[in-house]
Amino acid sequence: MATDVLIVGSGGREHALAWKLRQSPRIGKLYIAPGNGGTRELGENVPIAATMVEKLADFAQLKSIDLTVVGPEDPLALGIVDVFQKRGLRIFGPSQAAAQIESSKAFSKQFMQEAGIPTAEFGVFTDYKKALKYVREKGAPIVVKASGLALGKGVYVCGTLPEAEAALKDIMYDQIFKDAGAQVVIEEFLDGPEVSIHAISDGKDYKMFPSSQDHKAIGEGDTGKNTGGIGTIAPLPWITPAVMAEIEEKVVKPTFVALAAYGVAFSGILYPGLMISSKGIKVLEFNSRFGGPECESYMRLMKSDLLDLLEACVDGKLAKISLEWNPGYACNIVLCAQGYPDEYEKGFPITGIEDANQIPGVVVFQAGTTYVDGIVKTSGGRVLGVSAVGDTLKEALKQAYKAIDLIHYEGKYFRRDIGTKSLSRS
Ligand code: AMP
Ligand code: GLY
Repeated sequence: MATDVLIVGSGGREHALAWKLRQSPRIGKLYIAPGNGGTRELGENVPIAATMVEKLADFAQLKSIDLTVVGPEDPLALGIVDVFQKRGLRIFGPSQAAAQIESSKAFSKQFMQEAGIPTAEFGVFTDYKKALKYVREKGAPIVVKASGLALGKGVYVCGTLPEAEAALKDIMYDQIFKDAGAQVVIEEFLDGPEVSIHAISDGKDYKMFPSSQDHKAIGEGDTGKNTGGIGTIAPLPWITPAVMAEIEEKVVKPTFVALAAYGVAFSGILYPGLMISSKGIKVLEFNSRFGGPECESYMRLMKSDLLDLLEACVDGKLAKISLEWNPGYACNIVLCAQGYPDEYEKGFPITGIEDANQIPGVVVFQAGTTYVDGIVKTSGGRVLGVSAVGDTLKEALKQAYKAIDLIHYEGKYFRRDIGTKSLSRS
């Protein structure tokens, strides 16, 4: 029987999920709320914001949706999974309590400390003066983080003490992140390559995804402001099976076990952001969902049927199915709007997506786009994700950059060095 699915979200991640779900022989109707200019080609966009949790549940009931898949963190933090489950609706993602591992950095750090999961040394503060005293005692470099969800903008990596003091003023005194900054986490600065890990769990069993890596800084050579993520590669050629096994043993497994022991068994995607530091593997943060733009690379590599995987997870039958991956490598390079992650203009027509999709190995995912009067236009800071697969990472990157040259809109910006560090390490 055909399975009708609702995807919640509007980014490149959700376009990639829709693209992969469309390939399932069992997929029925596909709805994306609110979706973007690309998802409309794969299903029906529904004009309900991802945070309108009750309205989404009403829609799922009205349309007798068989499975809802949540992309972004905000609805998870608002308890969308609890709301749907209370109404007897099947939904993929963690409960509000389990999602705290992402939505509260204070919770997540205290959890890691108690569960013995390796992470940077830290303090949690609600008092501005005490926080100032702590950074002055510890000195720079030091990292200051708003505890709550702040669209990836609440983290200040401070090279000097005045920078750290200014960060505390922003978050605690000027309250620029409002309630998200009510608690502040101050932590030890770590150095080393960052790795994204994803594992899927049904609350009892879990399965690991291959490693991946995001590029967060806007500028080439990892310079400039942090973004939500503007380019990924997967798997990392320099991560050996032994390192993956260590990550699983020291981070993934104890996290699922400890969360279950806390009474908040985690079902969904657990995405720890790690640093392979000189002091060993350290967790920088936990996310309770697919990474964007990591998801786009993963969907290109996944051999198994995504619908089978997500349904097995929701039904607590993950142990019964196998999760298989294609050989080779994937990359996903984000094309941004000039100015992102600060202010940028919207509404520029985009051309060349069809031509780019003709390049062997390439699939263009849309993120910040809308479709108006037959024209795809820019509508966000991260506009498109140009993904490619290849037998080697070098080949995948070459194809993606070839495709990018065919895409045009005013203010197109992207990094030309996605994956280069990994190429020189492998
Ligand atoms: P987070 O949202 O906590 O992952 O932080 C965003 C980014 O800030 C990370 O991807 C790192 O690049 C950087 N970062 C976070 N914590 C640290 C740390 N303790 N030391 C150095 N850089 C960090
Ligand atoms: N890859 C960054 C994020 O999804 O948070």
